[in-house]
Amino acid sequence: MALPPPFFFLLIATLPSLFPFISAFSPLGPCSAPPDHGSTLHILPTFSPCSPPSPFHDTTLLSLSNRDVSRFLYLSAAAAPSRRRSFVPIASGRNLLQSSTYVARAFLGTPPQPLLVSLDISSDVAWLPCSSCSGCLPSSVFFSPNRSSSFLPLTCNSPPCSFLPIPSCPAKTCTFNFTYGSSSISTTLAQDTLSLASDSISSYTFACIASTSGGSLPPQGLLGLGRGPLSFISQTKNLYFSTFSYCLPGFLSPNFAGTLRLGLSGQPQRIHTTPLLSNPHRPSLYYVNLKSIRVGRKRLSIPPSALAFNSSTGAGTIFDSGTMFTRLVSPAYTALRDEFRLRVNSTVSSLGGFDTCYNGPVVFPTITFEFDGMNMTLSEENTIIHSSRGTLSCLAMASAPDNVNSVLNVIASMQQQNHRVLFDLPNRRVGVSREPCTS
Ligand SMILES: *[C@@H]1O[C@H](CO)[C@@H](O)[C@H](O)[C@H]1NC(C)=O
Ligand SMILES: *[C@@H]1O[C@H](CO)[C@@H](O)[C@H](O)[C@H]1NC(C)=O
Ligand SMILES: *[C@@H]1O[C@H](CO)[C@@H](O)[C@H](O)[C@H]1NC(C)=O
Ligand SMILES: *[C@@H]1O[C@H](CO)[C@@H](O)[C@H](O)[C@H]1NC(C)=O
Ligand SMILES: *[C@@H]1O[C@H](CO)[C@@H](O)[C@H](O)[C@H]1NC(C)=O
Repeated sequence: MALPPPFFFLLIATLPSLFPFISAFSPLGPCSAPPDHGSTLHILPTFSPCSPPSPFHDTTLLSLSNRDVSRFLYLSAAAAPSRRRSFVPIASGRNLLQSSTYVARAFLGTPPQPLLVSLDISSDVAWLPCSSCSGCLPSSVFFSPNRSSSFLPLTCNSPPCSFLPIPSCPAKTCTFNFTYGSSSISTTLAQDTLSLASDSISSYTFACIASTSGGSLPPQGLLGLGRGPLSFISQTKNLYFSTFSYCLPGFLSPNFAGTLRLGLSGQPQRIHTTPLLSNPHRPSLYYVNLKSIRVGRKRLSIPPSALAFNSSTGAGTIFDSGTMFTRLVSPAYTALRDEFRLRVNSTVSSLGGFDTCYNGPVVFPTITFEFDGMNMTLSEENTIIHSSRGTLSCLAMASAPDNVNSVLNVIASMQQQNHRVLFDLPNRRVGVSREPCTS
C-alpha cells in the first residue's frame, strides 16, 4: 500500500439543523463547492442555502435545543451498560435524532458517486440511503449500487456481519434493522470503494438503507468516526493509524470552513492532551477525565461523583460532534450556572432550554474545563449564544433534561468550535488547542 500523502483534509460545514434547509443541500447543487484538487476539499454550504445567517432566531434556537435533547437522550442511553442495543435510542419523535451537526463530502463506488455524510464521532457504522430505498425522502442524496462495479453485498458469514449489534439473516445477505427517531430502518450490509479527499479505501463496509418508515430519517448519510470495529477509524487503521483531528467552524462565522485531518502527518505536535478512557460497554464513545470546572479563577465545588468515570454505570465525560450544546449532570451544571450568574450579576431570564440569559450588554466570565493534564478555556464564542430577539444572550450549556437520570457529561460542538481537537488512539489521548478554522 502506498504511504499516505502528507495529510488529508476533508472540509466540514455546519449542517443546517432544520429539515427544509438540508434538502436544499446537494453535492451537485447551486451552492456546491468547485471540484476538489490535491488533498483539500472545498467547503460545503451551510445554514441558509448559500450564505451565513445573522444571530439565531428564537425558533431556530428552540428547535436546536430540542434536537439536542434527543441527541443527548440517545447518547445517555448508549452509555448505559444495560442497554446493549446501541442503535436504539430511547427518545423518539424528533427529527435528526442521531444526526451530527457537521457534514463532509465523500464519494462511493466505481465510478465514484458524490455523497454528503454527517460526521459523528459517537457512532460506528456508516449508513446511506440507497437508490432502491422505499420510504426515504425524495430529496435524499442516494447511492446507486447498480451503477457501481465494485459494490458487494455482504453475506451473513462475512466477518463484518459479526460486529453488528443485532444482525439478522433472512436470506444469505447480512441485514440489520434499527430505529432512528420515529423511523424504523432496514439496511443491508455491503462494501464498496470510499473516496475521501485524494484517498481511496477499497472494500469499505457500510449499511445500505433498503427501507424506512416513519419519516424522521435525514436525507444524507452518516459516517461513524467512533472507536468500534465498524467505524471509519477502525476500517482505515492501516492507512490513518487511528489518528484524526478536526476543527469545527463557528456556527455564526462568515467563514464556515472546517477541516477533518486524517492520519499522522500534519497533526499538531505541541498540543496539550488528556488520556482517552475506554468503556468496554460503550466502545464507540470518546471518554475523558474532566476533573474540575472553573468560572473565572474560581474552581467550582462539584461532588467528585458528578464527574467521575465509571464504566459500569456509563458515568463520565465524552467529547461529541453531534450535540450542539454542552450538557452537564445536574450538580455540575448547577454549580457552574450559579457561579456564572454571580459573576454576571444582572437580571436573569430564560429561553427554552437555556436558563441563564441576559438582556443588554453584560460582561461574561470565562469557563475552563480542567481535564487530566489539559485545560480548555472557552472564549465567549464557545460560551454564549446570541438570539436575534433584542440583545438576548444565553449561556450555551444545560443540565441533563429533568426527566432523565443521566450520569453523562457531553462536551458538545459549540464548545469545541475553533479548536483543533486531536484523537490519537494509538497513544490513547485527546488533545485540544485553540485554532481559528480556515480551509
Ligand atoms: C438493480 O438491479 C437489480 C437487478 O438487475 C434490479 O432488480 C433492481 O431493481 C435495480 N435497482 C435499481 C435501484 O435500479
Ligand atoms: C427488518 O425490517 C424489514 C422491513 O421492514 C422486515 O421485513 C424484517 O422482518 C425486519 N427484520 C427483523 C430482524 O426485525
Ligand atoms: C461504579 O458504579 C457502581 C454502581 O453504582 C459502583 O458499585 C462502583 O463502586 C463504581 N465504581 C467506581 C470505581 O467508582
Ligand atoms: C451586583 O450589582 C449590584 C447592583 O448593580 C451591586 O450593588 C452589587 O455590589 C453587585 N454585586 C457584586 C458581587 O458585584
Ligand atoms: C490548569 O489550570 C490550573 C489553574 O490555573 C493550573 O494549576 C494547572 O497547572 C493547569 N494545568 C495544565 C495541564 O496546564
